[in-house]
Amino acid sequence: MHPWKQKSKILVTCPKGASVYLRKEIDDFGFSVRREIDTAVQTEGTLEDTLLLNLHLRTAQRVLYQLQSFKVVSPGELYAKLNALPWEDIVHGGGKSAYLCVTSTVDNPSITDTRFVNMKVKDAVVDRIRDKTSRRPDSGPEKERAVIHLYWKNDQATVYIDTSGERLSMRGYRKMPLQAPMQETLAAAVIMATGWRGNFALVNPMCGSGTLAIEAALFALRRAPGLTRNNFGFMHIRGFSQYIWQELRERAREAVRKTLPFKIIASDIDDFAVKAAKINARGAGVDHAIDFLTCSFAETPLPHGRGIIILNPPYGERLEAREDKPARDFNKKETRAGKTFIIRKGAAAKEKPVSGRQKLETLYAGIGDFFKSAGASGSRFGYIFTGNLEMAKSVGLRTKQRMLFYNGDIECRLLEYELYADSRRRPKSS
Ligand SMILES: C[S@@+](CC[C@H](N)C(=O)[O-])C[C@H]1O[C@@H](n2cnc3c(N)ncnc32)[C@H](O)[C@@H]1O
Repeated sequence: MHPWKQKSKILVTCPKGASVYLRKEIDDFGFSVRREIDTAVQTEGTLEDTLLLNLHLRTAQRVLYQLQSFKVVSPGELYAKLNALPWEDIVHGGGKSAYLCVTSTVDNPSITDTRFVNMKVKDAVVDRIRDKTSRRPDSGPEKERAVIHLYWKNDQATVYIDTSGERLSMRGYRKMPLQAPMQETLAAAVIMATGWRGNFALVNPMCGSGTLAIEAALFALRRAPGLTRNNFGFMHIRGFSQYIWQELRERAREAVRKTLPFKIIASDIDDFAVKAAKINARGAGVDHAIDFLTCSFAETPLPHGRGIIILNPPYGERLEAREDKPARDFNKKETRAGKTFIIRKGAAAKEKPVSGRQKLETLYAGIGDFFKSAGASGSRFGYIFTGNLEMAKSVGLRTKQRMLFYNGDIECRLLEYELYADSRRRPKSS
């Protein structure tokens, strides 16, 4: 039976620390959860099921459909076992999808260079297709077409179709990422961690490129995050049905709420950031659901009634690393890790004041004061997402919860503060 109709294990990866939220999402869609680790959740289903998972999951990075798992001790044996699989039914040998990218995670003492393993996998697949069809796909590092992933630990290897291709955090809406943006999937997990279910106001001062506010709006509008993206790995697997995919998209579109009966407010002191956030929100199809404004976090208007406030202040760490750098040219583009950042003239110089330790302490203490006054408007909880645990102490309020996350390899916390109508009821504490 072809994988499109054949049930197999599906490994869904996520940002480290977010698996509890991914697990809930997978469970809500009626898929069984077989295993959960820090960075992934294992479920099962057909290759066809991966379309739905790619379209709807908010906290998933990649959806990997397991083709085969086997014992292997050497690269030669790996080649032989992979070459025996019917790749001619999976990867196109000709046409515009006839391109293969191999990725791998290898934890085996005899392998020092994963590129060698990737080449072995690629050779096994391409040789098989050439032998069976007299055609051969091209190969390379681009993840825009078929992607095969190998996980090899000790003597056990597992080969997957990476049905996402590019990771799912690349939703396609972030046209202007600025600097230090949160990954979209992490932002979605952080929103889920607050317990907010899109039923009352959410205020996001210090919004930067708008990721938290946009993910909140997508969630509240029940808009599938995959609707903004037009390319996934599964589209390049033989037998992909455009009809089934369009049906799924159509159903997802029908489920979108047109408006929200409450406000999502996003603000930043930096007018350029606010402009970028607006453009990104438009790209995500949620700009009508967010009120954007340029102001200091403390001046952000809070709607009356129930609501939450969530901020992702500067950590200091990354900004300090830029302290010595000279001012840069106007709207200069820099590419890092495959992403283009717009750097404004004098950006480093302007950010310098908040990079000093004292300034950061004052900023975090100011957030504490803001939270204290916010209780009067009806806001019930305040949240700070930060990678600077030292600075978090400067907030000067007692945390109700401290939730562990990772932003890349930076250990972060989502700090939850309960807000009170009468701030005097809760004195400062360490
Ligand atoms: C870490 S970035 C937020 C990144 C954002 N979560 C994203 O995904 O793009 C911190 C933001 O705080 C803003 N900021 C710094 N000081 C501020 C202040 N006093 N009032 C309002 N915003 C401020 C900066 O302009 C920056 O956009």
